[in-house]
Amino acid sequence: MNKSIRIKGNASVANVSCGFDCIGYAISVPGDLITLTKKNTPGIDITMSGFGSDSISCDPKNNTGGQAIVSLLEALTSDQGFHLHIEKGIPPGSGVGSSAASAAAAIVGVNELLNNPLTLNELLVHGMAGESASAGVEHADNVAPALLGGIILIRSYNPLDILELPVPDSLFSTIVLPDLVVNTRDARNILPKNVPLKTAIAQAGNLAGFSLALHNEDFDLLGRSMVDHFAEPHRAKLIPGYKAVRNAALDAEAIGCGIAGSGPAVFALSDSLEKAEKIGLAMVNTFKNSGLASQSYCSPIHTQPPEILG
Ligand code: HSE
Repeated sequence: MNKSIRIKGNASVANVSCGFDCIGYAISVPGDLITLTKKNTPGIDITMSGFGSDSISCDPKNNTGGQAIVSLLEALTSDQGFHLHIEKGIPPGSGVGSSAASAAAAIVGVNELLNNPLTLNELLVHGMAGESASAGVEHADNVAPALLGGIILIRSYNPLDILELPVPDSLFSTIVLPDLVVNTRDARNILPKNVPLKTAIAQAGNLAGFSLALHNEDFDLLGRSMVDHFAEPHRAKLIPGYKAVRNAALDAEAIGCGIAGSGPAVFALSDSLEKAEKIGLAMVNTFKNSGLASQSYCSPIHTQPPEILG
């Protein structure tokens, strides 16, 4: 019988307000469940189930998990074939790294079934190749935290330089997913191609402040730094009631709040699980005032790679 393994793929919050395309953190709920089976013939066969699976292509070239595996097998010059089943627990187009979760879990699984020829860091470029199947660009701020866990800084894309930022024990995440789909490709297309110098300076200052705040566990500085001058001013209009939801989170004692990745999910950071839950409730109630049902998930930052469940 062919060997099968199951791997849990983690959701992630990209940008984290001040780090457009350069910062992301991992969370363990919601998550995807990947089942990989070695085949006796070459090629990748894909089946899907779960949230929004009808909207995702099963063609390996247009599927983030499939594309990531193809990239990995090419690098290894392997013609091993696999059957990949993706059970989506993370709705696609929600903004919490749905495609990255599948891609990261898929390559961790293939690497495991091939006796781990690559390290997690070496797998990252293949996860990024998978991301390009959905976003059109190889951004790493979802797939790097989904693969490595923790809070990740992509200091440079060329050459790739990935740094792990400290994760304070008392830092908690709230994400709220409204019943709405925003395609990452569309949310990137509305952004201007250039930013004024003043805007770049403001974003650079916040990014440096964010990094220092995590090192010093200075949550006041963290909150002051969590302002997005690049994407949020253009993307807020894609999320009905966004400003009110952000204000509700800050009123409920969030350290900071912003659009998760390209949205429509909204995330907040806080200093206790109790506050994370209170903030989630306030955000859900505020979305309701805009006519949107939503779901909140509260957790610590997840510091582990995709888990192999056996
Ligand atoms: N950094 C990416 C973006 C994340 O904002 O477009 C997409 O989830």
